[in-house]
Amino acid sequence: MKILGIETSCDETAASVVEDGTKVLSNVIASSVDMHAKTGGVVPEVAAREHIRQISPVVDQAIEESGVSWDDIDAIAVTEKPGLISSLLIGINTAQTLSYIHKKPFIPVNHIVGHIYANFLEREDEPQFPIITLTVSGGHNEIVLLKGHHDFEIIGETLDDAAGEAFDKVARMLDLGFPGGPVIAKAAEKGDPTYFNFPRARLDKNNKYNFSFSGLKTAVKTEIQKNVKYKNDKCESETLPTGRQVRNLKSEIIADVAASFQMAVVDVLSDKLIAAAEEFNAKEIHLAGGVSANQLLRSEVERKLDGSIPLHFPKKLIYCTDNAAMIAGAAYFLYQKSPNQFKDWRR
Ligand code: KG4
Ligand code: ZN
Repeated sequence: MKILGIETSCDETAASVVEDGTKVLSNVIASSVDMHAKTGGVVPEVAAREHIRQISPVVDQAIEESGVSWDDIDAIAVTEKPGLISSLLIGINTAQTLSYIHKKPFIPVNHIVGHIYANFLEREDEPQFPIITLTVSGGHNEIVLLKGHHDFEIIGETLDDAAGEAFDKVARMLDLGFPGGPVIAKAAEKGDPTYFNFPRARLDKNNKYNFSFSGLKTAVKTEIQKNVKYKNDKCESETLPTGRQVRNLKSEIIADVAASFQMAVVDVLSDKLIAAAEEFNAKEIHLAGGVSANQLLRSEVERKLDGSIPLHFPKKLIYCTDNAAMIAGAAYFLYQKSPNQFKDWRR
C-alpha cells in the first residue's frame, strides 16, 4: 500500500510517498528555517505564507521522485494536530482537496504519533512490543508506552517547556542562532559539561516520569548574567542579556554553559526514559523527535543501558526532525488497524 503523506505543522513543508509504512519512496522537505533564524523563532504568519508558496511544488516533487503515478497512490495522509493552526490548515486543505480530486482515502495523523513512527521507517525486522519511546522536540516532550501498533499510553510529559524549546531559548540567550539544538551541541564540543552544576528536575514520586525544564532555563540565564561583562562598574542589563552583551562573554564560558546545559537535559531525559523502560518491561527503547538527533542523548542512553535493552533511533537524521515520511508511515499502520474508518473520501 502506497501512501502520500503531507506535513505542515510548523516551519517545514513536507511531502513523501511511503510503501507499507516503512519503505520510503520519496521524502521532500522545504524548510523556511532561514527566515525564522532572523527572528530567533518561528513566526506563525511567515511560516503559513511559506507553506502556501511551497505546498504544490513539494507534493509534485514527492510524487515525481517516488516513481509512482497518482493511480498507484492508495491513500493521502496529513498531520492534523498539534501544531501552528495557520500552518496545519494549509496541509489539511491540500490533503483533503487531493483526496477529493483523486478519490483516495483521507487519513489524519497526530504529529507526535508521526514522530513515534519515524523509528519504523526503513526498518526491516519486526518490532518487539512493548516499546518505550521518548519523543522530544521543540513543541512536545513525552515518554510513551507502545503496547502494539497505535495502542499507546502516555507515561510522562513535560509540566512546562519541551527540551527542544529549552535548547532554542538557551541558544538565543547565548546568541548562537536558531534552531538551538544543533548550535548548542556544536558549542558544547569545546566545553566542560561539569563546569556548571545546573539543576536536574527529578520531581516528586507522582511526577517521576514527567519533566520540567523551566528551572534549568532560569539557572542558565542567571549564570549568563553573572558572566556578562561589566561596563563602568555596572551590568548593562539585569534582564535577559541582549546579543551585544552576550558577545562579551568569554567564548570558553559560552562553551561551558552549552556543555553543562546539554548534560543537564540529557541526564534527566535518559534517566527517566530508562527507569520507565525497566518498570514497563520494554523490549525496545526508541528515541524520536528533533532532540533525538542529539548525539550526547544517544550515547548517554546507550552507555547507561549497557546492552540491557535494544536502543533504536530514526535511521536518518532527517527522520528525527519534522518530515512527511513519518506521517505516511504512521497512517499505514492506522489504516491496517481500521480500514473502514477511512474508506469514504467524501468527508
Ligand atoms: O521535531 P522537530 O523538528 O519540530 C517539532 O515538532 O517541534 O524538533 C525541532 C526541535 C528544535 O527545538 C531543535 O532545537 C531540536 O529539535 N533539535 C535538537 C537537535 N536538532 C534539533 N536538539 C538537540 N540536539 C540536536 N542535535
Ligand atoms: Zn515535530
